[in-house]
Amino acid sequence: MQSFKGQSFLKTSDFTADELLTLIDFTGELKEKKNRGIPHPYLKGKNLALLFEKPSTRTRAAFSVAACDLGATAEYFGQGDIHLGVKESTEDTAKILGRMYDGIEFRGYYQQDVETLANHAGVPVWNGLTNEWHPTQMIADFFTLKETWGTFEDKTLTYIGDAQNNVAQDLLVTGAILGINVHIAAPKTLQPDIKIQELAQYHANKSGSKILITEDVQQAVFQTDAIYTDVWFSMGDDQSVYQSRIEQLLPYQVNEKMLTTTMNPDVIVLHCLPAFHDLNTEVGQKIYEQFGITEMEITDQVFRGDHSVVFDQAENRLHSIKSILSVTLGDIF
Ligand code: CP
Ligand code: NVA
Repeated sequence: MQSFKGQSFLKTSDFTADELLTLIDFTGELKEKKNRGIPHPYLKGKNLALLFEKPSTRTRAAFSVAACDLGATAEYFGQGDIHLGVKESTEDTAKILGRMYDGIEFRGYYQQDVETLANHAGVPVWNGLTNEWHPTQMIADFFTLKETWGTFEDKTLTYIGDAQNNVAQDLLVTGAILGINVHIAAPKTLQPDIKIQELAQYHANKSGSKILITEDVQQAVFQTDAIYTDVWFSMGDDQSVYQSRIEQLLPYQVNEKMLTTTMNPDVIVLHCLPAFHDLNTEVGQKIYEQFGITEMEITDQVFRGDHSVVFDQAENRLHSIKSILSVTLGDIF
């Protein structure tokens, strides 16, 4: 296996296809070990700092349990718990934490902040989501696809919805690096930034992946192997965009009709979660009161239906984060 020891994990485009495949395949090994109760304390005696400027369920839980299973400790620092960015610069915080901890996870707003942490900490830094990228999610997602499909060869992943957010941009670029065809259906104004499209095309030219970015849902989903969607408003988005997003994105809702349009009875449905598929959330209720809709990016029927692999995907956050931690910080050889 390739060694990445000491490297940070800030965005997937810092890695080659082979390196990403190492992380994906090792995810499977670690899942197997966990399921069989085989100990895997690759981070024995290490201490990890988990920094969260934004809320999290899966990423926080996955880092915490992964640390524990790997024999490390993990300390959670939420928004406002430390001086970061308020009374102390990101650079100074990085230097302090780097002298006490063996690795740092950061979830926040700006990619620049996670890059600054990595430049000054002297220990591996892992990006747990920024406005731009969500790389730990990518290892879980592409592992989930490989686990379900058995192969990446000749496979197409279609992303539908707000295609300017972190997850959409990352799926496009990571899929292109790995040689998977990536289709995106989104309104023109919510399609990936041209620079992201160019980066994806650069990798696609090398890997043989075919990219399609269109407003036409039918064209994007026809014979696709997977449909992926994400929330219509990401963390940090201003509430003033709600109305226009809903109006623009309703035709892009993942529903039964869309699954039929794929003409693929084996199509699978992914979502990084959390998802607005019913009214059992505060935000879901507020949107219903304001705009009269009971579901947003995915219908409850599809979310809970046979094509959905969303809970396998969520569980795989644990195994994939463990893989990233082990390969960048662990004693795996
Ligand atoms: N998918 C994901 O990152 O979920 P959390 O926001 O719960 O961490
Ligand atoms: N695009 C979403 C992903 C959440 C995991 C957000 O940034 O809020």
